[in-house]
Amino acid sequence: MAISKEEAHWLYPALKQIEFLTFCSLGEIEELTQSLIKKHFKKGETIVREGDQGDYLFLLYSGEVSVRAKSGMFGTKELTRLGPGSYFGEMALILHEPRTATVSAVQDTDAFLLFSTDFRKVLERNDALARSIEAHAAKRRQDRELKRREAAYDNSRTLLGRLFGKSK
Ligand code: CMP
Repeated sequence: MAISKEEAHWLYPALKQIEFLTFCSLGEIEELTQSLIKKHFKKGETIVREGDQGDYLFLLYSGEVSVRAKSGMFGTKELTRLGPGSYFGEMALILHEPRTATVSAVQDTDAFLLFSTDFRKVLERNDALARSIEAHAAKRRQDRELKRREAAYDNSRTLLGRLFGKSK
């Protein structure tokens, strides 16, 4: 889908407010903007799946998505909902690790997709950007570990409640 003039105008501040892109110059943001593609996702559609390999970062233009991750032995838990101006998918893009969560469209959603190869071209030339990404990734990993521990704690309380007949 082609990017309209109005969308191009929206994109500069939207990209610039992404923490790890604040170190990008005007020219670099321009370069990233030109490499974006726009995609529509229908309500209910899965955009990325936990555990899959991923090559794109998604910047939401309209709509809403739900971010869910595995929790406990069989369940999943909603981590957050994201709307216009938010982004997701940076973990796989930056760390080359499998997707850490499943993201699906809660409403019809339009997003701009940034392909990892285009992002890496900018990253290779910008040390400050590389450092800021490392810090961002470390924080996300910490958040994830905290959520994992909370879920393990919840599960053990549920199990104890069942065993001894007490509710949580
Ligand atoms: P990635 O792992 O590439 O794909 C799934 C995305 O969900 C992930 O990148 C993040 O952008 C997003 N995500 C994962 N965990 C959280 C969280 N706790 N809060 C907000 N977004 C998250």
